Amino acid sequence: METVRSTNELSSWVESWRLENRTVGFVPTMGALHEGHLELVRHASQLADRVVVSIFVNPTQFGPGEDFARYPRNEDQDSELLQEGGCHLLFLPETSTIYQEGHSTCVEVDTPAKRLEGESRPGHFRGVATVVTQLLNLVRPSVAVFGQKDAQQLAVIRRLVRDLHLPVEIASHPTVREPDGLAMSSRNANLSADERTAAAAIYRALSSARQRIEQGERSAEAIRRGLREVLEGELLIDIEYAEVVEADNFEPIRRLRGSIVMPVAVRIGTTRLIDNFSLEID
Ligand code: PAF
Repeated sequence: METVRSTNELSSWVESWRLENRTVGFVPTMGALHEGHLELVRHASQLADRVVVSIFVNPTQFGPGEDFARYPRNEDQDSELLQEGGCHLLFLPETSTIYQEGHSTCVEVDTPAKRLEGESRPGHFRGVATVVTQLLNLVRPSVAVFGQKDAQQLAVIRRLVRDLHLPVEIASHPTVREPDGLAMSSRNANLSADERTAAAAIYRALSSARQRIEQGERSAEAIRRGLREVLEGELLIDIEYAEVVEADNFEPIRRLRGSIVMPVAVRIGTTRLIDNFSLEID
């Protein structure tokens, strides 16, 4: 695995592969890598001949008072994991490489970025859309792989790529979970032992909602209430949202049909966690 920090080095590697007719897959990350990220890398290596991974803790997608400063950073360990995980090129840019002096261009997606994360974290999706557009332009992959845990982010990126006619396929990979169902996340490391136990309620809430839907429940309100009831059973959990929305635009629905997502965001102590289940309903 090669590691590069400058856009020139990145371009020359990618260009050399292109001259050899090799396809390029890309996995953008913010580091603090876990099995969930490694699954994305493995998936990318099934879809392309060469895999580029970026690690960049993007300041513009964190709001004031959010966890940018304490977001876990572990470059050496990440690099080892990627080496073993089949990554060919690690792109580790400085902030000044991505946001050059005088940077003043942003990418703003409307629907599906408006609600939920968009409301809870104003400016978050502008930061994500801007950095992902830049990274896609720098790497120019044929396919980029994103995790389904950030379901709204995935919907935003799909919309952005479609609307801006970016020449890349967006692929996704299912959420990787701990044995008790908690979605793997870099932020899980911030949980105390009690908070970690409480966090398993997110998966219980989603599983019980899915079971009710499988048994025939079609009222979105009943499902929202059910999600909340399970989460409220854990004293350490503060619910930010527990919703049922249409999968492509993240707008709330009344009756369940078609492709739906149940996104959940909670705070446990000072840690914010998100998760979701996606379902297809006849
Ligand atoms: O999902 C993430 O880790 C980030 O939002 C991303 C896509 C790497 C953009 O900074």
